Amino acid sequence: MNNISGKVIIITGASSGIGLATAKLLAAHGAILSLAARRKDKLDILVSEITEAGGKAIAFAADVSKREEVGALAQATLNAFGKIDVLFNNAGVMPLSLLENLHYQEWEQMIDVNIKGVLYGIGAVLPHFKAQNSGHFINVSSVAVIW
Ligand SMILES: NC(=O)c1ccc[n+]([C@@H]2O[C@H](COP(=O)([O-])OP(=O)(O)OC[C@H]3O[C@@H](n4cnc5c(N)ncnc54)[C@H](OP(=O)(O)O)[C@@H]3O)[C@@H](O)[C@H]2O)c1
Repeated sequence: MNNISGKVIIITGASSGIGLATAKLLAAHGAILSLAARRKDKLDILVSEITEAGGKAIAFAADVSKREEVGALAQATLNAFGKIDVLFNNAGVMPLSLLENLHYQEWEQMIDVNIKGVLYGIGAVLPHFKAQNSGHFINVSSVAVIW
């Protein structure tokens, strides 16, 4: 964790769970955070906590299943901090049901968020990583992918 300080990190799905916990940990190690999710009120509370503790973070409302909103997230991060070092593609949904229940809407949501959302994040940030000749994508997966 010695090289985290000063790194600009976008975290999608930062309003709860793994994303929220990661934001707090990285902020404590000096990362500069761009926090995204749909529930902006939750993100605002997290940003307040981080800044009150001496950290640096902004909140940005974005639905990762909407390509233009992910693009706007990347641009807002560049406008605020001048660079992006890491994209933590963490936003995801995990509706569980048997295929025979035919929950088509959940299948579509899972593809839109867990697959397209990750690709939109890569698409929004990759040109910037290439231009600066550095950058990391961290994509969250699940043990369920091997089933
Ligand atoms: N917890 C586990 O055991 C487990 C296991 C395997 C994989 N995972 C993966 O780990 C990641 C985090 O999971 P978690 O357990 O921390 O879940 P969580 O507490 O439900 O958090 C999910 C996060 O994703 C965000 N999100 C959902 N849909 C979104 C959308 N369309 N656009 C933007 N943000 C969206 C939610 O924010 P908003 O609702 O505010 O948008 C929330 O911040 C997910 O990708 C999940 O699939 C978790």
